[in-house]
Amino acid sequence: MLQKSYPYYLANRPVAANTDLDVLDKYSGKRATRVAFADAATVRKAIVAAHRARGAMAKFPPDARRDVLEHCVRRFDQRREELALALCIEAGKPISDARGEVARLVDTFRIAAGGATRIDGEVIELQVSERSRGYRGMVKRVPIGACAFITPFNFPLNLVAHKVAPAIAAGCPFVLKPAAKTPVGALIIAEVLAETVLPKGAFSVLPCSNEDAGLLVEDERIALLSFTGGLVGWELKARAGRKKVVLELGGNAACIVDADPGRPLDEVVARLVSGAYYQSGQSCIGVQRIYVHASQYDRLKKKLKAAVGKLRMGDPRDEDVFIGPMIDEAAAERVAGWIAAAVKGGAKLLAGGSRQGNLLPATLLEKVAHDSDLYRREAFGPVACLEPFSDFDDALDRVNDSDFGLQAGVFTGDLAHAMRAWDRLEVGGVIVGDIPSFRVDNMPYGGVKGSGIGREGVRYAIADMTEPRLLVLRDP
Ligand code: SIN
Repeated sequence: MLQKSYPYYLANRPVAANTDLDVLDKYSGKRATRVAFADAATVRKAIVAAHRARGAMAKFPPDARRDVLEHCVRRFDQRREELALALCIEAGKPISDARGEVARLVDTFRIAAGGATRIDGEVIELQVSERSRGYRGMVKRVPIGACAFITPFNFPLNLVAHKVAPAIAAGCPFVLKPAAKTPVGALIIAEVLAETVLPKGAFSVLPCSNEDAGLLVEDERIALLSFTGGLVGWELKARAGRKKVVLELGGNAACIVDADPGRPLDEVVARLVSGAYYQSGQSCIGVQRIYVHASQYDRLKKKLKAAVGKLRMGDPRDEDVFIGPMIDEAAAERVAGWIAAAVKGGAKLLAGGSRQGNLLPATLLEKVAHDSDLYRREAFGPVACLEPFSDFDDALDRVNDSDFGLQAGVFTGDLAHAMRAWDRLEVGGVIVGDIPSFRVDNMPYGGVKGSGIGREGVRYAIADMTEPRLLVLRDP
């Protein structure tokens, strides 16, 4: 069960503010809890606290950072079921997906705990000519300073973890604004952080308005802004001044199924179903476009259609439910509108049904026009477009024919095709033998083109949150 209310955290301390934000149970639509809502003055205080704490955090030793992260691992592990239920309620995430996300939260903190004592530098050979004889160079990595994090609704724990855990490992204080629709996960993480000996001011977690979060974007005392969310991220980058900016902005991920898929077709179908419809498609790497070699098309279509038709929709607390509610009715309405427009434009509906409030049945279409919203934009809903191809290079071109480029999946048993996909696909990651939705929390994760800039994945985030600092020593 959720608590009746949750405080926000300002400079490590819980604060029950006068203003509250209602958090809805996304299935029942009723209020599930309330969280304290920060105002602009509080956001300013948090920035000051984080900026002041940067020296203390930089001095906080790596083994102590590791101990803090290990404490979090233990506490999250003890609170697994409570965390999963919180996700299920606040995000409408089916309980099995919610448990999976909690497992990843634990993984992410555990990886960061390991990383905290491995932020190594290097020795540089400076004697490249007569001029630099007797000079030695060494580089260490130092924390970048105060960071600002803005996180989305779809992974309320693990996408918070991907910013918070590397920041602690790197020695950076931070201010985090969780998504207003799903702030509880981040506040439970903050509650656990408040049990630790992190230096004063090291962290603030503040549900607040987007307008007040603008202070985090523009304030020059913040050294790095890491944002996960929609295309608005590019506007934030334009307002961010001289701070470093990392953006993870999603996409319309594609998956190719080659003439020889390299795996039994039933397995391919099961993975496609998972990739397209888990947590109602509300993932930046959810499968949206599926290109199938003509020789496999009819068989795969039949199997996929049958599998999609069997997905159960309903209460995400029910262990057998695969399709839970979308985050709100407006989101479901938008996706349903795109589906209707695609059908009007000539697409054929293979599976799907009518929307009930924020519940949208798993939908599969073919012959979707390439200029439709459903094909070109990020659907972020339980829908996939199927089409045949006969030439592998043409399939690669179709994957690349997108404003986005986060991850792509390729089912192929042909090594040359796998290598060609890796060489040619304009994405941050190519997943051979599986769907684009595959992610392990230590791998570099991020995109090209409209999908963003920079990489997450603990080691890569730590690299962003630290700066190289050179020492040159001249021999006496
Ligand atoms: C995302 O939606 O960007 C995150 C996907 C994941 O972590 O699996």
